[in-house]
Amino acid sequence: MITNDLNQVKAALVNDDIIALPTETVYGLAANIYSRSAIEKVYKLKMRPANNPLIVHISKPSILNEVAKNIPSKALELANVFWPGPLTLILEKNDQIPDRITAGKKTVAVRIPNHPIALKLLNSLNFPLAAPSANPSGSISPTSAEHVSLYFEKKLNFILDGGSCSHGLESTIIGFENNNPILYRLGAITIEKIEEIIGPIKVKNHNDNDPSSPGMLSKHYSPKTQIQIIENICDAVKQNKTKKIGVLSLEKKSRLDSQIYQEVLSPSSNIEEAAKNFYAALHRLDHMNLDLIVTSFFPDKGIGKTINDRLKRAVKK
Ligand code: TXA
Ligand code: MG
Repeated sequence: MITNDLNQVKAALVNDDIIALPTETVYGLAANIYSRSAIEKVYKLKMRPANNPLIVHISKPSILNEVAKNIPSKALELANVFWPGPLTLILEKNDQIPDRITAGKKTVAVRIPNHPIALKLLNSLNFPLAAPSANPSGSISPTSAEHVSLYFEKKLNFILDGGSCSHGLESTIIGFENNNPILYRLGAITIEKIEEIIGPIKVKNHNDNDPSSPGMLSKHYSPKTQIQIIENICDAVKQNKTKKIGVLSLEKKSRLDSQIYQEVLSPSSNIEEAAKNFYAALHRLDHMNLDLIVTSFFPDKGIGKTINDRLKRAVKK
């Protein structure tokens, strides 16, 4: 059920249930980090592999010491600038953080979301919330309460409505190796903005044998419909005349046949607006029973880099 009733949602969480909550990035599937049964429900409902850890969401910086220890100074610098906001830090975990949250790892992912409803809820609870994105493992992240409802319908008692997410892409994840920062996942905060604060940052090269980043390898953020990334969208449409095609593009392709369904992410080519609309457009395209979605890479800088990262994973087999 989609609801605005914070008290009801709070009671559900206190009683070991799981709920969906809005954040500024995407909706999350939230559980009390100390409730074994609620955490099991999250893994089960998401069909999340047991080796893929969950992000812990806290209400304020002072709670960080409950979750993590030996925090590198660069992590604190970043938290000072970007929290609350779409920055997730991977830090050494405190002993009381259950192993199931971190999938047995010695590190924990943590962030303070910047959404008034999420913050109000977190501030009313005396425990942090584990909240992976509220989608079945591997599929497109939800950026509205309706997206969550389409995925989980009656399997979820409460979906807290917070409108559509203002960033529309997941948080940027930064980890540390020997106290040196490493970018684990491109996200809603650009590398450029991170580097303004802590200088040049290494980008994690994910490979299939590296257990330090289990969620970064597989096919992810994917529609069920086949998706093709190609330089010239109009040519691709011409070559696939017999197919039912949908187009995803930054600005309107005026040369396209008006019969072709087009999702324009930003009529004024504003890349932040495009990021906000990206998943919602993919959700709509994926519900149209198309044979093929055709798109191009976006300008590869700033948040465009994050969109391109999600596109690459969406087509991965
Ligand atoms: O914006 C976001 O981060 C959203 C909202 C709801 O906060 N959450 C989100 O969660 O995207 P999820 O679970 O879909 O993605 C979190 C990623 C996963 O790929 C997971 O593998 C990684 O963070 N992660 C979590 N804990 C980790 C750890 N200790 N070490 C390495 N990676 C970790
Ligand atoms: Mg996810």
